[in-house]
Amino acid sequence: KREAGEIEVAEPGNKLPRPAPSLPTDPALYSGPFPYYRRPSELGCFSLDAQRQYHGDARALRYYSPPPTNGQSPNFDLRDGYPDRYQPRDEEVQERLDHLLRWLLAHRGHRLHYCKCWLAGAIVTWRGHLTKLLTTPYERQEGWQLAASRFQGTLYLSEVETPAARVQRLTRPPLLRELMYMGYKFEQYMCADKPGVSPDPSGEVNTNVAFCSVLRSRLGNHPLLFSGEVDCTNPQVPSTQPPTCYVELKTSKEMHSPGQWKSFYRHKLLKWWAQSFLPGVPNVVAGFRNPEGFVCSLKTFRTMEMFEYVRNDRDSWNPSVCMNFCAAFLSFAQNTVVEDDPRLVYLFSWEPGGPVTVSEHRDAPHAFLPPWYVEAVTQ
Ligand code: A3P
Ligand code: MG
Ligand code: MG
Repeated sequence: KREAGEIEVAEPGNKLPRPAPSLPTDPALYSGPFPYYRRPSELGCFSLDAQRQYHGDARALRYYSPPPTNGQSPNFDLRDGYPDRYQPRDEEVQERLDHLLRWLLAHRGHRLHYCKCWLAGAIVTWRGHLTKLLTTPYERQEGWQLAASRFQGTLYLSEVETPAARVQRLTRPPLLRELMYMGYKFEQYMCADKPGVSPDPSGEVNTNVAFCSVLRSRLGNHPLLFSGEVDCTNPQVPSTQPPTCYVELKTSKEMHSPGQWKSFYRHKLLKWWAQSFLPGVPNVVAGFRNPEGFVCSLKTFRTMEMFEYVRNDRDSWNPSVCMNFCAAFLSFAQNTVVEDDPRLVYLFSWEPGGPVTVSEHRDAPHAFLPPWYVEAVTQ
């Protein structure tokens, strides 16, 4: 009997054409016990500046600085500064894994040297790509495509913008653009550039700026090296050791009825959990905005307690399903991408309601490991 995602191998005398391998995504198929997930540890970090230039340090890290808890509610105007003090990142630029590869290249002689064989067995990707895998069994709206190449043993996974996502981005309604700005504006009200200082919301919001943590973990038998953007660090926590000092900031609509809360737990909290659980970020601080775009209340959600809000809801999400599906996808990808060749790309595609399918490509436009990386590592 075949298991989910296993490729059927033609037996002697079996003249049937081999079916194209695919991986089902139905939640019911992945409801086993929670798989092994190694406590994520930080290997290093890097920063991207206002011009989106890479720096191998923590210069873009900001410090969590919530308003004083003197009984007063916050009153953050998230629309302030829009659009005149907004410098959005150019989303036409497809950066793929480039910044992470640059970090890897810079550290190949140092901390990763002793574990070069470790890297050869690892999967390298962005945290955001893994988040999408975790939520796939429950996603009903947006599909995804992941390009995969094997090079010197390591499996690299890099997202490709789907045609539908591209259309959505290019026709994004003005209100949605403003809503995106508001998410970043909230960060500016909650963070300072130095520890122990109050935030300064008078400046520009520039979404080129980013601080990224590079982490090591393992899901089942899949060693992982991934990087993710971190909103800020809390200088107050007793253990200032990353990633436990990191805080994720989020905005959401103010809720007024039990039905609204239930829907929030089912849909938004799943995404928040997946994003922060992967890198081991322990707390998510939510700012709830009213219809006028003001944040008047804050609430801290502990990542490890998020599942409790939906545990008794049969129609909701389950962390085991998310992690088991992710592990199954990583096995599927490892078994599909056998040949070691940076010019060979397997494109994994998924649309809600269907299975994950694969197609094979060579060179442009899908090859994503840049010559500067391939040549430097081939030395
Ligand atoms: P909110 O999440 O508060 O809405 P992050 O929360 O991951 O740090 O991202 C910061 C902000 O970027 C988000 O704030 C949102 O405004 C914007 N953003 C991130 N991912 C997005 C996406 N897929 N679509 C639209 N906006 C996004
Ligand atoms: Mg962020
Ligand atoms: Mg955030």
